[in-house]
Amino acid sequence: MSFDTPINRLGTHCVKWDMMQAFYGVSPDEGLAMWVADMEFAPPAAVQAALEKMTAHGIYGYFGDDRAYLDAICWWMATRHGWTVDPSHIFTTHGLVNGTGLCVDAFTQPGDGVVLMTPVYHAFARTIRAAGREVVECPLALRDGRYEMDFAAWDAQMTGRETMLILCSPHNPGGRVWTSAELQATAEFCRRHDLILVSDEIHHDLLYPGQSHTVMANIDGIGDRLVMMTAATKTFNIAGSHTGNVIIADAGLRKRFADRMMALGISPNSFGMHMVTAAYSPEGAAWVDDLMRYLDGNRRLFDDGIAGIPGLHSMPLEATYLSWVDFSGTGMAPAEFIARVETGAKVVANHGATFGSGGESFLRFNIAAPRSQVRDAVERLQKAFADLQ
Ligand SMILES: Cc1ncc(COP(=O)(O)O)c(C=O)c1O
Repeated sequence: MSFDTPINRLGTHCVKWDMMQAFYGVSPDEGLAMWVADMEFAPPAAVQAALEKMTAHGIYGYFGDDRAYLDAICWWMATRHGWTVDPSHIFTTHGLVNGTGLCVDAFTQPGDGVVLMTPVYHAFARTIRAAGREVVECPLALRDGRYEMDFAAWDAQMTGRETMLILCSPHNPGGRVWTSAELQATAEFCRRHDLILVSDEIHHDLLYPGQSHTVMANIDGIGDRLVMMTAATKTFNIAGSHTGNVIIADAGLRKRFADRMMALGISPNSFGMHMVTAAYSPEGAAWVDDLMRYLDGNRRLFDDGIAGIPGLHSMPLEATYLSWVDFSGTGMAPAEFIARVETGAKVVANHGATFGSGGESFLRFNIAAPRSQVRDAVERLQKAFADLQ
């Protein structure tokens, strides 16, 4: 299949296109949906074949015998990430927002502080607050147009009420692949302040050429307080399967998590299990390599186009297909640049403020689409800000 071929998703109950009018007032007939983090691409043929096998059989009973599924996850983590996973450490949740909620529930108490490096993926804060915990925002430092961690400032912020840190690695929305030194420092910070570290690595396969990601589980001295979260859903564009993995090496933490899963009656969705098993395969690996080469071209096209608009700056993407664009150089208030993008260009991107403090002057654009759509978006944006030339 070619990533260049547009696929019409309208009327398929996809949130990205079918809810755009309701949420942003932009009609999908003339607008471009560049918000929700899923891709405009069909997954590898092996995933489609797994689903076809299920529908051909036509029986949709409870799932059992997860050996092939667990083997596929262990194979993927070993070959793609140099991480040896014990299959008995893997839990399957209904995605990683569900995984986040379960971690907050299992490992913190109402009123506890949960630390986030902001701006960061918006569902973290929503989940923490809905569970009656407090979001503790540790602002990432913006240096030379990219985010860096700032432990000296964050040490001074801690009150002793914080019990967990949720890390987004690689970082959404900044596109950073954290270095092993930064990850080591994060582990030490958690140890210093007695925090459980939840490492959400849902984007860890989406690396641009030349980038290398370190899984937090391979960092020394953190295993006894670490919860890993991974998924095949972003990598292979199967987010609707709502299937994610929470992987816990520490026996005490594992027992607490297992008890919450049991208490809430969480068991796997058979469609997701079959899709993940098919995706984490040599065929899936080749598909991801092709995908990242394609996205690399999109990234260059988008960045060059944005660089051509005075006052706009896109963060250099090391991973993810989510481009974080700073509009502060235009001197415009968010309402004005948002109106130009949505009403003028008819492009829908995520509003930066929803990612927490520090995000206000940004919009996040999803560039995982046929190149023709990315080119169209760039031309629309250049037109909407043409008076700045
Ligand atoms: C960091 C991060 N975690 C989790 C999710 C969503 O996970 P799920 O669809 O498995 O609930 C996203 C989606 O964009 C994300 O960026």
